[in-house]
Amino acid sequence: MAILVTGATGNVGRLVVDELLRAAAPYVRALTVNPTRAALPQGVDVAKGYVGRPESLDGVFDGIDTVYLAPVPAVAREVAVLARDAGVSRFVTLTGGPGTEWHGIEADVEASGLDCTHLEPGEFMANATIFAEQIRTTGRVLGAYPTAANAPVALEDIAAVAARTLLDDSHTGRTYELTGPESLTHPRIVHEIGRALGRDVPFVEVPRGEAETVLADAMGEYGGWYLDGRAALVDHPQVPTTAVGVVLGRPATTFAQWADANVDLFR
Ligand SMILES: NC(=O)c1ccc[n+]([C@@H]2O[C@H](COP(=O)([O-])OP(=O)(O)OC[C@H]3O[C@@H](n4cnc5c(N)ncnc54)[C@H](OP(=O)(O)O)[C@@H]3O)[C@@H](O)[C@H]2O)c1
Repeated sequence: MAILVTGATGNVGRLVVDELLRAAAPYVRALTVNPTRAALPQGVDVAKGYVGRPESLDGVFDGIDTVYLAPVPAVAREVAVLARDAGVSRFVTLTGGPGTEWHGIEADVEASGLDCTHLEPGEFMANATIFAEQIRTTGRVLGAYPTAANAPVALEDIAAVAARTLLDDSHTGRTYELTGPESLTHPRIVHEIGRALGRDVPFVEVPRGEAETVLADAMGEYGGWYLDGRAALVDHPQVPTTAVGVVLGRPATTFAQWADANVDLFR
């Protein structure tokens, strides 16, 4: 089976490449705009291009059976048709749940007639790095909506599920909502980072406007959008799913494990 990984230096795509190599996938092609800078590992065939620019995909799908599709909503429909016409039979897409900017990718790709498996991750655990600068410089976190809760998922778990579903076509037709194992508030997340650091890191509730100002350092214009999402979680906390465990046959990574593994980001 020949697999193409698009967005192959991305946060998810790069880990998908590693997982496929670890699983001894027979053939892996990785797509990047700059093969030299990408420095992809031995055992990967590197192709030049970007899914966001379909005109750069000439020949990229030749000989490929299955594609990991990085999320670029504007071109998903066009890319799927190009892939289908080049002989690809199946896509594993990274999208998002209903209401997110990525969700339309699912219908766009299915319109091509390709077999599909859709992965809908929620917030990434790595998003906790939005607190890193505050923790480093002030030892605490100023934020809003302290009771809002969701179940962030580890990038490594998303990539492991992607690799497993790329290699096993029995997942065709399935959509997996990927979350971590527990629904957590920001005070709890900050507490876990503090535990990993070996000191108390308080979460201090401040008015929404002040939280947005503080967040702008890490998220720029997306700070307001992010806080809108937190506000919605106050009355509708995200319920964790079991999809990671079901697909991988092992428990999903906990935030405590993630914090221990990534504690240096907060020192
Ligand atoms: N909760 C969430 O945060 C959430 C949930 C669902 C989905 N998502 C989305 O999932 C994606 C996952 O992140 P990811 O880091 O793996 O990124 P990605 O969007 O899957 O892929 C990023 C890669 O695409 C390539 N690329 C080439 N030209 C680009 C351009 N003009 N703009 C952007 N990328 C370009 C780059 O690799 P080369 O330079 O090597 O070509 C880059 O490393 C993000 O798009 C994110 O918005 C997020």
